[in-house]
Amino acid sequence: MEAVQAVRGMNDILPEQVGWWQGIEAAARKVLENFGYREMRTPVAEKLELFARGIGESTDIVEKEMYAFEDRNGDWLALRPEATASIVRAYVQHGLHGDSSYHKFYQIGPMFRHERPQKGRYRQFHQIDAEVFGLDGPMIDAEMMHMVSLLMERIGISGVSLNINTLGCPKCRQVYREVLKKFLSDKGDGFCEDCMRRRETNPLRVFDCKVKSCAQLLESAPQLIDHLCEDCRAHFEAVRDHLEKLGTPYAVNPRIVRGLDYYMRTTFEVITDRLGAQSAIGGGGRYDGLVRDLGGPDVAAVGFAMGLERLVLLLEQEKTKPVRSPLCFFASLGDQARASAFLLSQKLRERGVETEIDYEGRSLKSQMRRADKSGAKYVLILGEDELARREVQLRDMLTKTQRILPLDTILETLETIEAEKFNP
Ligand code: HAM
Repeated sequence: MEAVQAVRGMNDILPEQVGWWQGIEAAARKVLENFGYREMRTPVAEKLELFARGIGESTDIVEKEMYAFEDRNGDWLALRPEATASIVRAYVQHGLHGDSSYHKFYQIGPMFRHERPQKGRYRQFHQIDAEVFGLDGPMIDAEMMHMVSLLMERIGISGVSLNINTLGCPKCRQVYREVLKKFLSDKGDGFCEDCMRRRETNPLRVFDCKVKSCAQLLESAPQLIDHLCEDCRAHFEAVRDHLEKLGTPYAVNPRIVRGLDYYMRTTFEVITDRLGAQSAIGGGGRYDGLVRDLGGPDVAAVGFAMGLERLVLLLEQEKTKPVRSPLCFFASLGDQARASAFLLSQKLRERGVETEIDYEGRSLKSQMRRADKSGAKYVLILGEDELARREVQLRDMLTKTQRILPLDTILETLETIEAEKFNP
């Protein structure tokens, strides 16, 4: 019978790869919690309307990439393509704004976008996402980017760059829209069909276009950064000043417009040249109007998300794979010894000692092969003779030396070894 395959673009993360994931997630949690972010977990499906209103009807994500479906009640739902809109919804729905002037949340989990899969781009992918509500000053923008740089360092990724830009506020955007519209219509009909449409509906989105000829035409396009109002210019200058004082390296890149409509003022991306076409490892920015537009209070907001798959791909290029091995493998010979080894193994595990055992009564040779493959540091060997003498052999797999221990003290002995592993 033919075996069922996973959905294209949705990947299994197998035990041999999961070490990367656990390492990144642990580093992210540590850094985020140090900066005062608290975890929130929202559902993977939301009402379709949330993303249409939140991300923008004329963005690629909403227009082309959404996993939208009608459920059995006739409600239109979507698998979340990102976490920001969901976190805003939860913040508003649970009235979380009431109990403090500002809030910091984070979420780690799967997102879904129906894009064409390639290296670094999948249909189910995972994000580390962080959001702050209630702070409109430039300090938090800079702190967030500084935190992202620290996070990359803690994860163990080097050679990435932080690109920053500002998209101004609705006031300067209004002016810029007209300037850009004029530029686009002066360029004539050389743009692709999508861009011709965007020219009318949402001109800023032309910068998302992946068609080469459009990108060429846009090279000489006017830039928003040259059309900022006084307040937005001052905000951006202050963000840059904070970054410099924090010692966080960055480059201003006026081309960073982001693929989502909610941004204003600061935007940023962490990019690499080591992942081919998928150069963005993470991105984010300020989105002050969104909470209000989704029915909440008029509070400022800023956030970012990083793609876990892309972080893993980078780590694989730089580091050796983390492997998880038990501290000890319990080998036994004979039915009675196996029964004792079985019981003692459970006791070791209860005491926090990672232990593997033989369940099947295999030959000692085959058990030793398995122990070797598992990477266990110690092998306990219990035969019927040892059992009769209430003894057990402890083999150090690294030094290949063996000693005999009283069976009744092995729990304590291994517990001490396990503790020394953490406090050598
Ligand atoms: P985004 O730039 O759309 O922003 O996604 C953030 C990151 O998610 C990307 O830089 C990339 O690493 C990863 N990513 C996106 N799509 C895929 C994909 N198809 N396959 C693999 N990885 C992918 C956001 O999602 C915003 N919500 C970020 C944000 C939070 N802004 C404010 N708060």
